Amino acid sequence: VIDIRKLYGQSGKFTYDPGFTSTASCDSAITYIDGDEGVLLHRGYPIGQLAEHSSFMEVSYLLLNGELPSQSELDDFTRTITRHTMVHEQLTKFYSGFRRDAHPMAVMCGVVGALSAFYHDSTDIADPQNRTISSHRLIAKIPTIAAMAYKYSVGQPFVYPDNKLSYTGNFLRMTFGVPAEEYEVIPAVEKAMDRIFILHADHEQNASTSTVRLAGSSGANPFACIAAGIACLWGPAHGGANEAALNMLKEIGTPDKIPHYIERAKDKNDPFRLMGFGHRVYKNYDPRATVMQKTVREVFDALKVNDPLFETALRLEEIALNDPYFIEKKLFPNVDFYSGIILSAIGFPTTMFTVLFALARTVGWVAQWNEMISDPGQKIGRPRQLYTGPAARDYIPVSQR
Ligand code: ACO
Repeated sequence: VIDIRKLYGQSGKFTYDPGFTSTASCDSAITYIDGDEGVLLHRGYPIGQLAEHSSFMEVSYLLLNGELPSQSELDDFTRTITRHTMVHEQLTKFYSGFRRDAHPMAVMCGVVGALSAFYHDSTDIADPQNRTISSHRLIAKIPTIAAMAYKYSVGQPFVYPDNKLSYTGNFLRMTFGVPAEEYEVIPAVEKAMDRIFILHADHEQNASTSTVRLAGSSGANPFACIAAGIACLWGPAHGGANEAALNMLKEIGTPDKIPHYIERAKDKNDPFRLMGFGHRVYKNYDPRATVMQKTVREVFDALKVNDPLFETALRLEEIALNDPYFIEKKLFPNVDFYSGIILSAIGFPTTMFTVLFALARTVGWVAQWNEMISDPGQKIGRPRQLYTGPAARDYIPVSQR
């Protein structure tokens, strides 16, 4: 065995930590997680309290600025975001370049990445004013872009923002308004949706946030960085799990089939996993899942619906939490386990679930990106590797191979 580091003079020491399970990549004052205790705090405030008493706009202000706003600060912030909800008319043309059956996350990656082509000031990130306006544009336009992705997929005309409505009410109208003028926002649904946005707003250095930071560390503009985050979020091990979790519940169907799927999840020769279960950091109940489970009932009551899959989900949770495999590996429901049932009851197709996650997480990505860029000690992200390829060798002409 050749020690390749010596061969290339790589004598410096570095840690080998696949998946970064024990490497902190930055300082951050935004979000705190204690995975063993099931604690999640944003700027010190417990997620349960924020979900119960706050609004998505207020939590957005908190994540960006570090403190809860006064009433006038909240009004100003909401007005600023509202002013930026429109997208450039030229941007609406992007959608027609996609197939109607394109996954909306594919559309999101493309359209959000394209925003920097409309705002040239976004590429000069050294100016704090430019960073602020780009941040506001991203938070304001992401619901418009997401709703348009949905409208395009179902072949309906785009609905322009109605800035008399709340952030979340506006998004619901832009998504479900047919015709938009007759759409009435149901307050209980608006509140539930707003709460779902709060639950997804930030989660410290997860895969997509780390992607945003890594992309941003090179000085790339914030629209490009958030597009990178959206791409990362799409994966089924991350934001795509909410779509996968509902598909799994549909596949399981009735509670009597649960033991079969539990056995499959435990079988190491079977790639099947319980989607919406397990988390890299939480080795206890994900506090967001607790709120999510409660919200299911509120939405069912408001819409006067019932989905038998909720009973299947509750039973699945009960069986899994009493199974030695899940106990030993500390696998609990995560935020994605119940969210699909709520979103489905509200009327979203499964393909939109991860889009909604991206919409809500945009503020967290933006807050983390701003924190990184404002840090005077910020460096380009550049992980090392443990080289396992061939030692140096001479090129052989193709005729002699
Ligand atoms: N079902 C069955 N077994 C599981 C599950 C699951 N959902 N999750 C983890 N395990 C098992 C693994 O097989 C592994 O077993 P082993 O020790 O015998 O090899 C052990 O638990 C540890 O799992 P890892 O994959 O090593 O843990 P990691 O921290 O890397 O992964 C992850 C966390 C990706 C979330 C994982 O639990 C998973 O795939 N869950 C399902 C997908 C999901 O719900 N993702 C959403 C996460 S939350 C979010 O992104 C918002």
